[in-house]
Amino acid sequence: MNSTPWLAASLFVSMSTLIAQPKSFNYDEGKVPKFTLPDPLVMANGAPVKTVKDWETHRRPEILELFKKEMYGRAPGKPAKQSYFVLTHHKNVLGGKIDRKQVEVRFAGTGKGPRMTILIYLPARAKGPVPTFLTLNFRGNHTIYPDPAIRLTHSWVRGKVKGETKDNRATENGRGLAKSRWPVETILARGYALATIYYGDIDPDFDDGWENGVHALYPQTQKRKPDEWGSIATWAWGLSRAMDYLETDREIDHKRVAVMGHSRLGKTSLWAGAADPRFALVISNDSGCGGAALSRRAFGETVQRINTSFPHWFCGNFVKYNANENACPIDQHQLIALMAPRPVYIASAVDDRWADPKGEFLAGLHANPVYQLYGLPGLPAKKQPPLDTPSMGTIGYHIRTGRHDVTKFDWAAYLKFADKHLPRGKK
Ligand code: GCU
Repeated sequence: MNSTPWLAASLFVSMSTLIAQPKSFNYDEGKVPKFTLPDPLVMANGAPVKTVKDWETHRRPEILELFKKEMYGRAPGKPAKQSYFVLTHHKNVLGGKIDRKQVEVRFAGTGKGPRMTILIYLPARAKGPVPTFLTLNFRGNHTIYPDPAIRLTHSWVRGKVKGETKDNRATENGRGLAKSRWPVETILARGYALATIYYGDIDPDFDDGWENGVHALYPQTQKRKPDEWGSIATWAWGLSRAMDYLETDREIDHKRVAVMGHSRLGKTSLWAGAADPRFALVISNDSGCGGAALSRRAFGETVQRINTSFPHWFCGNFVKYNANENACPIDQHQLIALMAPRPVYIASAVDDRWADPKGEFLAGLHANPVYQLYGLPGLPAKKQPPLDTPSMGTIGYHIRTGRHDVTKFDWAAYLKFADKHLPRGKK
């Protein structure tokens, strides 16, 4: 008996176990299925979209509705009793250049109900309201910067940091842990504020039967409907609630808020930007499947795979498109198009094949017709640009060297893009 094939097979099995990824994923461009993308400028009834008015009054609402119904799920509006409570406010801290605020958004109007804490760093001595980057973080506000005054979250945290494994509570061990992803000094020196919220304050990231986080405010009375909000829509809802607060804060230029997120939180920033036009600029960092990447390419993570690994992220209807992407009436270029005419930036990393960099680029490219309807440039690059070479029109894109992460390079591009599109002194 020839043992070579057996040996090769078992090596393959152990390798795939090691990298803990599904056998079914595809990283071969030659195996990307043939597909036709739904046309953003053709209505469901077949009529062409010819004007901005057609787009804004008919086609855009139609596409937005499809994303709610088929993919992310429907979220409620602003809770009637929502209130804000300033927990701390200090000026000229951390070397004197920073003002720090921590504000609790109380969804039910009380400190005992569901609530989230927004950490806001502002440039000290700013002359007037400042444009702001609003982002969710993965492990607690205290992880973004080694600042001893940042409060620890009370919410469930994933137990991966040493010392945080016991009961999923945040501890001092996490302080400053994610600082490489948050160039606080640079952002502030460029005249922007940074506002961030721990995403688990809004909804803990596990399949909890819709009982925890803000879902406690909306108790299930009957069986969950197939178009009810999944966790991505819930986190995006939290970003809108943060925006409600920012609109009341006179130090913030709420007309110039850029919403930015990485990975699952990049999917979230895209959905927040699509669902809530108050966000002036939208940034997706390595958002991949269910974010910027075209589902129909089925390259790297697929719809089936994401619905299986993360059954709580999308609404029930999205499961219909498992290994059946062509049947879906929408694809992610239309999500990008929902931002128009607002600027949107899509970033990929070359080693992050799981997120399908090419599919992320193509979603930007195929959103172009909608930007062109507004007479805007959309994405200038007609093919994926070379490594580390951003292409910036009203849609921006880069693919940088390196892996799935948020780096200085990414932030340098976002700051440049924001300077271009959110200029100071213009109303
Ligand atoms: C997993 C998941 C991705 C997601 C990423 C993240 O890799 O498959 O869809 O973007 O986690 O959020 O870190």
